[in-house]
Formats: sequence, structure tokens, C-alpha cells
Amino acid sequence: MVNNRTDHHFPMGSLQQVSTPFYYYDMDILHATLDAIKRQIEGYPFKVHYAVKANGNPRIINEIAQSGLGADLVSGGEIQAAVKAGFEPQELTYSGVGKTDWEIRLGLDKNIGCFNVESIPELEVINALASEMDTTARVALRVNPDIDAHTHKYITTGTAENKFGITLEELENTVKQAIELPNIELRGLHFHIGSQITSMQPYVMLCETVNKLQDQFEQQGIHFPILNMGGGLGIDYSHPDECLIPDFKQYFDVFKRHLNFKQDQQVHFELGRSIVGQCGSLISRTIYIKENRNKKFVILDAGMNDLIRPALYQAHHAIQNLTSRDTQSEAYDIVGPVCESSDVFARDCQLPVTHRGDLIAIRSAGAYGESMSSTYNMRSLPNSIFSDKI
Ligand code: LLP
Repeated sequence: MVNNRTDHHFPMGSLQQVSTPFYYYDMDILHATLDAIKRQIEGYPFKVHYAVKANGNPRIINEIAQSGLGADLVSGGEIQAAVKAGFEPQELTYSGVGKTDWEIRLGLDKNIGCFNVESIPELEVINALASEMDTTARVALRVNPDIDAHTHKYITTGTAENKFGITLEELENTVKQAIELPNIELRGLHFHIGSQITSMQPYVMLCETVNKLQDQFEQQGIHFPILNMGGGLGIDYSHPDECLIPDFKQYFDVFKRHLNFKQDQQVHFELGRSIVGQCGSLISRTIYIKENRNKKFVILDAGMNDLIRPALYQAHHAIQNLTSRDTQSEAYDIVGPVCESSDVFARDCQLPVTHRGDLIAIRSAGAYGESMSSTYNMRSLPNSIFSDKI
């Protein structure tokens, strides 16, 4: 079910003038997405922290800061960018399994809302640095709930065999240690079970696990003001136009129905992909059409350095020819110019007959597209263009 349709179109006249490749961001879609979230959390003690790693473009994070969301950060660089973009320091959370001393000091100096802590050694270092700085760190413990979110193996995080979080067996001991550390204020429990999750079942299981844990701790007189459910809501990569706005109603309803949050508790979410995924497309120009035996290749001027998801995760992105007027279609492998055989955006992709110079849109690239781009092959980083500024 799509709870808020927004039409999407590419302003071809203007886009033709821009040198390729570049990310094109449809700001109407971003705003409609943010509004859809607001409608679903209104009246509930829910707070969404946007996961900046999905897209840290200054314009995008500035818009998100203005819409009243907080930010979830994973490095000192992201803390600096979020503060610059105008997020309130109290509304910043800092996650990550390997926080270094300068990054922790920066978080303490900015007095951020919460450190999501992943181990006892990390707790001890934060405690020591906070003591040196004569301050207290607000902390949530990241729990690994051992729930399989059935997502790609590189982006699953909530099962016991990966590096993230504190295992259920170690949790009680870690909570007790955290309570005893003088410069740590234990505020909550944090969970994140994976990314690109399209079934609500893993979230229902997460709620059940959290309810059980809460009851266990309440019996010992330990109360957590914050429950952080992480992020992970998926988007529809195959039908971006039919599903421009993710189904936030279905997602938040899971927590409204299944999570036993108390009146004085805050429930936090760290959504990334579902906020920015559908507003961005990578726009590229066809350099050549190449034929090899029975295969036809569309060779683009965008490569895996601009969008690495297909090469890294075999991720599927819908691809559109924006300029061909041909009524016939053909199957092409869509590839980039980088010297790697994995520099392929799609195989056997049906497109209208495509010619040198045609503009190609790789859709649903707003999340983990620009933010994972690199200068591999000494290529330039892709540019960014915004629908309301061209
Ligand atoms: N919170 C934590 C602790 C996370 O590790 C992540 C993402 C998020 C929140 C946001 O998750 P989202 O709502 O965006 O699913 N590069 C991969 C995705 C990696 C996700 C890493 N963690 C991709 O392109 O699919």
C-alpha cells in the first residue's frame, strides 16, 4: 500500500544542459517522504533520527534538519556535518563499533544526545574521556537481538555471528557495569537488525524481544527512558514510480501495536534509506553502444565509483532511458567505464533502442549512492543537482 503518492518527473530541458554524471534529487519527493513520516509519528512518543550515512549531501541533510528530525551518526565527520547542517546537538545519536578517542571527545564536547555503545571496552573509554572532560556521557547499549532480517548478507546486522552489538548473554552484566561507571548515564537500549527490510515480521519479533528484555530489567528495578529500534525499512527498487513513498504507516503500526512502551519512554528510530532512497537518481550519458557476439552493451559515463551498490551487493536499480523516442526495445548490459568487470549496473535490461548521447537514469539511488561514491580510477566525484535549484 502506498500512503502518499507524489508524481515524479525529470525536467529534461534543464538536465540536458548539465554535465554528466550527476545525482539528481527531487526535493518534492524528499519533502513528501518527510511529511509522511511526520503524519505517522504524530501523537506518539516517537523520534526519528535520520541515518546520515545514507546520504550526507549538505543540502539534503539541511532539509532534513529543518523538518525537525534528529540525526544518527557514525563518525566524527558526520557529527561535524550534522552540527553544521543545523541539527540540535541534543538530537544527535552516535553509533558505531569503532569510535576513536577524538570522535568520542567531539561527541562529548558537542554534548550530543546519546552514544550508542557496543562493548564494555568502549564504555570504559567513554567513561574515562568524560571524566577527563568533567562531563557525563548519555549512553544506550546496542543489543544484538539475534534476529535474522532475511536481507543481503553484507547488510544484515542483528544475528549473533556478526560484529555488532552486545549479545543477549552479556547484556545483564554490561548494564550493571554501565550503571556503576560514574561518568556514564545509562539512558536506553538500542537495536538495529539490518537494512532493506521489506517484511514486517522481523520487526514484530524485535518488539517481542524488547518487551521481554524490558520486563526482565524492570523486575530488577532498572528502567530505560529510551528504546531505540534502529532503522532498516526497505524501499521498492523495482517499481520506484509506484512506490515513491515507503509504507511508513505499516512500519510504525508494528511498533504502535507490538512494542510495550510506557508513557514516560521515548521510542527512537534511525531510518536512512527509506527517507532518501527514492528522491535520488544517478543521471548519466551513453558514450557508446558496443556489440560483442550476441550481446549489446550500453557504455555509460557513470561507473561503479559513482554508484557501487550493483557491483558490491548485486543490488537491482531500475534503469530508464530519458531521451530515446524509439518505440522498439532491446536487451542491453548497462556498464560503466571503470576497469573492473564488476562495473555493471544491470544485465539484460530492456530499454528503448539506445543511442550515443542518450541520457540514462539509474533510479532509487538517493541512499548509499553519493555517500558511497569514490574517486577510483582517479575519476571525479559525481556532482549533485536539486529539482528546485535548476
Ligand atoms: N542504524 C544503524 C546502527 C545502522 O547501521 C544503519 C545502517 C542504519 C541505522 C540505517 O539503516 P537504513 O534505514 O538506511 O536501512 N550500504 C548498504 C546499506 C548499509 C546499511 C548500514 N547501516 C546498501 O547500500 O544497501
